[in-house]
Amino acid sequence: QHLELQLEAIEKGGYEHFMLKEIHEQPRSIKDCFRGRLNVDEGWVKLGGIKDYETKLANAKRIIMIACGTSWHAALVGEYLFEDLTRIPVEVEYASEFRYRNPIINEDDIVIAISQSGETADTMAALNLAKSKGATILGICNVVGSSISRITDAGSYTHAGPEIGVASTKAFTAQVTVLTLMALAIARKKGTLDDSRFRRIITELELIPNKVAKILEKAPKIEEIAAVYKDATNALYLGRGNSFPVALEGALKLKEISYIHAEGYPAAEMKHGPIALIDEEMPVFVIATKGPSYEKVVSNIQEVKARKGKIIAVITEGDTQVKAIADHYIEIPDTDENLTPLLTTIPFQLISYYVAVMRGANVDQPRNLAKSVTVE
Ligand code: G6P
Repeated sequence: QHLELQLEAIEKGGYEHFMLKEIHEQPRSIKDCFRGRLNVDEGWVKLGGIKDYETKLANAKRIIMIACGTSWHAALVGEYLFEDLTRIPVEVEYASEFRYRNPIINEDDIVIAISQSGETADTMAALNLAKSKGATILGICNVVGSSISRITDAGSYTHAGPEIGVASTKAFTAQVTVLTLMALAIARKKGTLDDSRFRRIITELELIPNKVAKILEKAPKIEEIAAVYKDATNALYLGRGNSFPVALEGALKLKEISYIHAEGYPAAEMKHGPIALIDEEMPVFVIATKGPSYEKVVSNIQEVKARKGKIIAVITEGDTQVKAIADHYIEIPDTDENLTPLLTTIPFQLISYYVAVMRGANVDQPRNLAKSVTVE
């Protein structure tokens, strides 16, 4: 017993929980994910695992991404990346819904399954269905040799290392990293991305691990913010564009481990419902980084403030406008617009972690949840 506890302490590498350890591993896990797949000096991106399918991907009329939970949120980020960089339409589906519909799939389709464990029953079944209709099936898995990685035609591993905490953190950022590399590789093949923009994005991608590390240094400030809102019963997460899936993921993290009811919404949809919930008790987490929808998000923040909601904003370093109106803010380094989800998601992971700890919840093994859902 004593030995077991000691072993576990070693495995946690000095952190109180696996989740915190895994959050802090992200500078390394993201780097591991693009190691050998990216060369900024020579200006290339390659994913060995899907090399034989690059032409097929570049010519695809559409791509279907299937996943569950956090992996489904990564797929949504992937949709924005593929749309912008490759101009290929992407449909993102919950595996459990897809498999029980009468989905239109044909031999030209490429179906990409995203799964940390590579064992999720619904995702497996959806893939088998797509395969039986003749589609090409690819996988993005973390666990090497997992069932999904074995049944797919090809795929790319995320190389995030073992993830023990039930709430997914480093696997998510690694999934988004692989999707970024995939979109970049396809875009180059297809010719939808000019050289200077391509170089700009890969240069920025290589800087992401250091920028994640900078955000992690703000953990004490994030912990203070968590202390203010730990007793909330509801929370709202808002974002636009590729920050919308990050809002969904932020809300999911809070629900999963702290049991606070939380919802993620596209910021502009707030007026079609959630705005009715806002009062002085309601924390509203907003992604308000610099980008094309910045001014729109500022208006959304003002709408929340007018109803006395509390704003916790994730902003770009140097921002002054949101800083002035937010109740709390967390600054993150600037990066390419396509890469912001890799940064904006970090403060939300930490907020959820600290809130859960303060509420005395079992962070690594939240009630009713399993790391890998192998039954439907
Ligand atoms: C479970 C886990 C989640 C995970 C989801 C999908 O619900 O608790 O963290 O996102 O399954 O799992 P997968 O292994 O397919 O990514």
